[in-house]
Amino acid sequence: MADPERVGPAPAAYRARCSAHSLSLTSQKVPAVEWTLVLGLLLTISYIKRLEKLNDQLSIHLTFKLPEIVWPVEVNYTYCEQFVQKPTTEEAIEERHLLDSIAWPDPPVKDLPVEFSSNPAMSYFVIQGPPEQHIGDQLVVNVHVHNFLDLPKKHGGDFLIARLHSPKLGAGVAGQVHDHDDGTYTVLFPLLWAGEVQVEITMVHPSEAVAVLKRLQEEHPDRIFYKSLFRSGSLSETTFCNLCLPFSQKPLCNFTDPVSGEPWYCYKPEKLGCDTRINHAVGGYTKNLISEYEAHFFKRGINIKVPIPASAMGKVTVLPAKKAIVENSYNAAGYYFNYTWRPLSGAAIQQFTSSSAITHCLRGKIVYMLGDSTVRQWFEYLTAVLPDLKQLNLYTPKRVGPFMAVDSTNNILVSYRCHGPPIRFTTVLSSELHYVANEIDRIQGGPNTVVLVSVWSHFSSFPFENYIRRLRHIRKAVVRLLNRDPETLVVIRTANLQKLGRESSMFNSDWSYLQIDTVLRAMFKGLNVKMLDAWEMTLAHHLPHDLHPPQPIIKNMVDVILSYICPAGKI
Ligand SMILES: *[C@@H]1O[C@H](CO)[C@@H](O)[C@H](O)[C@H]1NC(C)=O
Ligand SMILES: *[C@@H]1O[C@H](CO)[C@@H](O)[C@H](O)[C@H]1NC(C)=O
Ligand SMILES: *[C@@H]1O[C@H](CO)[C@@H](O)[C@H](O)[C@H]1NC(C)=O
Repeated sequence: MADPERVGPAPAAYRARCSAHSLSLTSQKVPAVEWTLVLGLLLTISYIKRLEKLNDQLSIHLTFKLPEIVWPVEVNYTYCEQFVQKPTTEEAIEERHLLDSIAWPDPPVKDLPVEFSSNPAMSYFVIQGPPEQHIGDQLVVNVHVHNFLDLPKKHGGDFLIARLHSPKLGAGVAGQVHDHDDGTYTVLFPLLWAGEVQVEITMVHPSEAVAVLKRLQEEHPDRIFYKSLFRSGSLSETTFCNLCLPFSQKPLCNFTDPVSGEPWYCYKPEKLGCDTRINHAVGGYTKNLISEYEAHFFKRGINIKVPIPASAMGKVTVLPAKKAIVENSYNAAGYYFNYTWRPLSGAAIQQFTSSSAITHCLRGKIVYMLGDSTVRQWFEYLTAVLPDLKQLNLYTPKRVGPFMAVDSTNNILVSYRCHGPPIRFTTVLSSELHYVANEIDRIQGGPNTVVLVSVWSHFSSFPFENYIRRLRHIRKAVVRLLNRDPETLVVIRTANLQKLGRESSMFNSDWSYLQIDTVLRAMFKGLNVKMLDAWEMTLAHHLPHDLHPPQPIIKNMVDVILSYICPAGKI
């Protein structure tokens, strides 16, 4: 919980107080009517009522004065479409295609008693084939999902993840899950090493929980809210901000990026001008988003990330290969063996065990790290393991940056900068709110330039159109960069799995991240960029999932990147 940007439960006092008053901090759902004057008026009235209630509820918990604040109101994002650049026809077709590709089935009947929801403990898996199989074969596992009455489910939509592993060998690989939409699933694993291998199938969310998450995505896109401090002389005001805000209520400050057109708005402070904005920060997380009924689908130890047991044998023995192996025929990005990641395609991985080997590889390089805290982890890793890579004091906030480190003897420059809003960092100075696309446009590029991009985690709570739009801008900038100099190395980091509880599921579910991950991969496919498969690297690893993967995984990731920078045989 040390990292302020991490989603966690609200402080106990805050929660206790809210539930004592049984007040939902979220506003009412905006009815699906056209955004007309009438609705504007209704909203204003309901907003005033809400504000009156909130005034005494919240004044203790917020560090800034309330009367100046307009509480964020649920926004129907159809409305927001007017405030963002219209996609071209081609972009709109791609967007439709991407959204179709992540469509998730709803349970055919809603609001059934909780006992009818998927129960991992009563579900089971069956390994197909003999107890001894061979390297190069594919292991097939069937999963049968049951409900709390131990009856087989008749529809799909449960979110399952799968891993095959050999703990003693430090080996693991992700499995591919296929939903047959009848309560059964098939999981495929490549068999890549000899020895005893164990199957691990986990239900991340039952289908009933995914339906709730889909509802939140549509109805509460602004369930995470943001704030900015405006200051001039002795006067200071704080207002709420978001990708889009209802405009009929109060004047807004329009911080839409003039270059990319990425939208960002804050309520205008009462006394101060929009140009007095000092900083940006996460404002908070809406509480009580789900009903008591829905909460049954998010029970730690019951139906959030719970393993599905084997019906009989949960393991097989893998014997050496019978036939020649065609490596790139596998549907996995790579696997761990002896705790080391081995990609199944692309550059052969090398181990950069000593600081001198890393320095040798990075000599003469300029490395730009752009994005969220998961790319910052690589900056922290490099500055920790390279004694000669000295981090300069730029007097920027810890964990926020921007950061810069140099090894002047070896002409190495490594920098980190966070992406533009929405970003859930504690406090970022307004002057440091830079969009990744614009940053990439400032990079000359060349054989000595490495650009590492990680933009995923802060988009999990918005309708996915917003993520697609952001990636579109980044992709255009990457294309321009590669056009300036095709020898530039660009590595895009994918999303990863994280630790889940009920609260974090509301804002940062692995389900949202799976959607984001699918979109990201599709949008950068066919470009001359490298993907760093953080999803599989966290899924296949034995350490617990974490939004910020633990150090052994970071080391493996940095080894993958260094292997891209310094391909074997070219050093
Ligand atoms: C948003 O508004 C549009 C048009 O007014 C409507 O069709 C849609 O159902 C609304 N969405 C939600 C989630 O209220
Ligand atoms: C905000 O500014 C952008 C251009 O910078 C413009 O396209 C957009 O319409 C503006 N939004 C509003 C609500 O006026
Ligand atoms: C595993 O890695 C360690 C070093 O990390 C090495 O000493 C050992 O020989 C490796 N074992 C195998 C089986 O490759």
